Amino acid sequence: MLAGTIRGRGDPVFVYREVRDLQAVTELAKSAFVIRRGDHTAATEWIERSVEQGRKLYGVYDGPTLVSVYMLYDYRMRFRSSVVPMGGIGLLCSRLDARGKGAVRFMLARSLETMREAGHVVSVLNPFDQSFYGKYGWEMFARLQRIELAPGLIRVPDDPGIEHKVVDLPYPDSASCDYYNEYAQRHHTLVQRGDAEWEQRLRIFSNQSNTATRGVVRVSREGKAAGLIGYDLSGKPDDWHPTFTANLFLYDDGAAKRALLRYLKGLSHQVKTIRVEVPTDEDLWPYLSDRPVKREIHDQFMIRVVSIEALDGLKVDADDVSLAVDIEDKLAPWNGGIWRLTVDAGVLRVERADRTDLRCGIGALSSILSGFTDCEEAIAAGLVEALPSYAGQDLPRTTPFLADYF
Ligand SMILES: CC(C)(COP(=O)(O)OP(=O)(O)OC[C@H]1O[C@@H](n2cnc3c(N)ncnc32)[C@H](O)[C@@H]1OP(=O)(O)O)[C@@H](O)C(=O)NCCC(=O)NCCS
Repeated sequence: MLAGTIRGRGDPVFVYREVRDLQAVTELAKSAFVIRRGDHTAATEWIERSVEQGRKLYGVYDGPTLVSVYMLYDYRMRFRSSVVPMGGIGLLCSRLDARGKGAVRFMLARSLETMREAGHVVSVLNPFDQSFYGKYGWEMFARLQRIELAPGLIRVPDDPGIEHKVVDLPYPDSASCDYYNEYAQRHHTLVQRGDAEWEQRLRIFSNQSNTATRGVVRVSREGKAAGLIGYDLSGKPDDWHPTFTANLFLYDDGAAKRALLRYLKGLSHQVKTIRVEVPTDEDLWPYLSDRPVKREIHDQFMIRVVSIEALDGLKVDADDVSLAVDIEDKLAPWNGGIWRLTVDAGVLRVERADRTDLRCGIGALSSILSGFTDCEEAIAAGLVEALPSYAGQDLPRTTPFLADYF
C-alpha cells in the first residue's frame, strides 16, 4: 500500500499509512475518547488484542506525529442474499491539536482506497454523528431493538412431544459456531464469525468489572442445533440486580424460539432484568403477560458502497428490475458517473450506462442497496432526484441488523 500525501490548511503535510506504533495509537485514543485513567490498561489491552487478532490500524502523520487513526475490521457480511467482504471502521479519532485541519477527511478518502484494495465491497461504521459521516458517503443502515423485561413476564406454552436440550457454554462449541454461521448466511446482515469475532464478543476486559460472565446458550433438537443465545451476565457491586443481556437470539422455528424463552424464564430466581437485543422485525409480545419494562429502537450503523462495480453478481431477492443511476462520489471517484443496475433472475448486474433515471450521492444509493430504505422513500425525502425517464422501478426493503460491535 502506497502512502498518500496532501498539503492541508495551515500547511501540515499529511502522510497516510499503516500504523504499527500501538503506543502512539493508545495515547491518541486516550484523549480523543476521554478514556479515564482507571481504564488505560484495558484500552491498551484491547488495542493490542485487536491487532493480534488481525485488525489493522491506519493513520495520518504530520511529520513524525500520528494525528489521526482508525481500525479496519475485515468482516464477511450478508448483504441482500450474498455474503460479501465488508470493511468495518472503528476507533476513528484525531489528536486534539489537529482538529479541523482536514486529517480525518483525508484519512477517510484514503480508507476507501485501502478497503477497495482489500476487496471490501461495502464499509460499515457506528457513527458518533450521522451528519459527519453523511458528508463522506455513509448513510443509515442498521437498527437495534432492545427489549427489557423481568423474566417472570415471560409466558410460554409447552410444546408437547418436542424435546429440546439446552446447554450453557462459556465459549461456543463447533456445533454452536456452525449453527451461527449458517444462520448468519441466511438472515439480516449478520457477519460470519471466526475465533476473532467470537473472542471480541466474549472476552471480558479488565475494566468491565460489572460483567460476571459471557457465553452462549445452545438449544438442540434431535441432536441438531436449533437455536442460540449469546449473553452477558452482569451486576453492580452494591446492588443485587443481575442483568442477563441476550445479544444474540437466533432460532430455526417457533418451537426453538419458545425453548429459548423458557430458558430465559427459568432464570427468574436469580436474574432481575433480561435485555434482548434483536432486529426490529422481532416481536416477543405473544409470549409476554404484560408490556416489557422498556422497548427501545437505536439507529446504529451506517453503510457505504466501497465499489459499485464489485456489487456485480450480488444475489438479490427481488423481481426483475432495471434502473440507471448517476452517482456522485467525491471521496471514491471510481464509483462516480452513470451505472445501470439490473436485477435479472435474482442476480444484480452492474454496468456503465449513458442515460440515467436517477441522480444521487453514493450514500443514498448505499442505503437503498442495503435494503434499509427504497427509491420511493429516498426520492420523497429529497435524497435522490428522479429524472423524467424514471418509471417507479424499485428494490424491496429488508431489515438490516448486525449483532457485532466495532
Ligand atoms: C470527530 C473527529 C474524528 C473529527 O476530526 P478532525 O480532525 O476535526 O477532522 P477534520 O479536520 O478532517 O474535519 C472533518 C470535518 O469535520 C469538520 N469539523 C471539524 N471540527 C469541527 C468542529 N469543531 N465543528 C464543526 N465541524 C468541524 C471539518 O470542517 C470537516 O468538514 P469538511 O470535510 O466539510 O470540511 C474528532 O473530533 C475526534 O477525534 N473526536 C473524538 C472521537 C470521536 O468521536 N470519534 C468518532 C467515532 S465514530
